[in-house]
Amino acid sequence: MNKEANTNYPINELIKKRWSPRSFEDKAVTPGQIKNLVDAARWAASSYNEQPWRFIVGLKGDDTYDKILDCLVEWNQNWANGAAFLMLGFGKQHFSHNDSINRHRAYDLGQSVATMTIQATDMGLHMHQMAGYSSSKVLENFNVPEEYEPIVAIAGGYVGKPEDLADDYRESELAKRKRKGLEQILFHGDWEKPF
Ligand SMILES: Cc1cc2nc3c(=O)[nH]c(=O)nc-3n(C[C@H](O)[C@H](O)[C@H](O)COP(=O)(O)O)c2cc1C
Repeated sequence: MNKEANTNYPINELIKKRWSPRSFEDKAVTPGQIKNLVDAARWAASSYNEQPWRFIVGLKGDDTYDKILDCLVEWNQNWANGAAFLMLGFGKQHFSHNDSINRHRAYDLGQSVATMTIQATDMGLHMHQMAGYSSSKVLENFNVPEEYEPIVAIAGGYVGKPEDLADDYRESELAKRKRKGLEQILFHGDWEKPF
């Protein structure tokens, strides 16, 4: 199965190879590998170098994993229960230096997770980000302080076989990856005038 990005211009191999599987191999990821991933995330850029990102991680078989799985919507639970690790990403809502609202917290968390996904690819791992979870369950299951906003859930591990997925998910696992064209997103001179 080839899920590599079919680019118009040459890009970095790791970016080409990153994708979001739903089928994961039944193979554990070690605590050391998780620390590798989050160390990479730590080096993302952030507004005022606030580093507003925080993560909770569970490894398959532990209580944290089960508590994260419990927060996902059923449609995500049905495939994410095969991941080797589950993670939640949070954003600190205010800047530490002056307590004003940090409008870029989600942007910054997103950059740290994007960096993590590239590190994961380099380690032979894959990650699948999810918006389909209940924020109120996250707050309840983990005693999260009010200052921290749940922003994303992530499933990760070694990529598995599409055949091991239930019918509902197999087709998209095998489907060709799609993207908008450069002319639809990159402008010059005026709005929607392609570069
Ligand atoms: C913020 C965010 C939320 C997402 N939410 C879900 C989700 O709840 N369930 C799911 O199966 N995929 C989810 N995805 C995965 C996207 O559908 C996927 O990244 C997109 O189709 C592009 O595919 P690729 O990552 O393989 O390139 C999410 C991705 C992001 C970045």
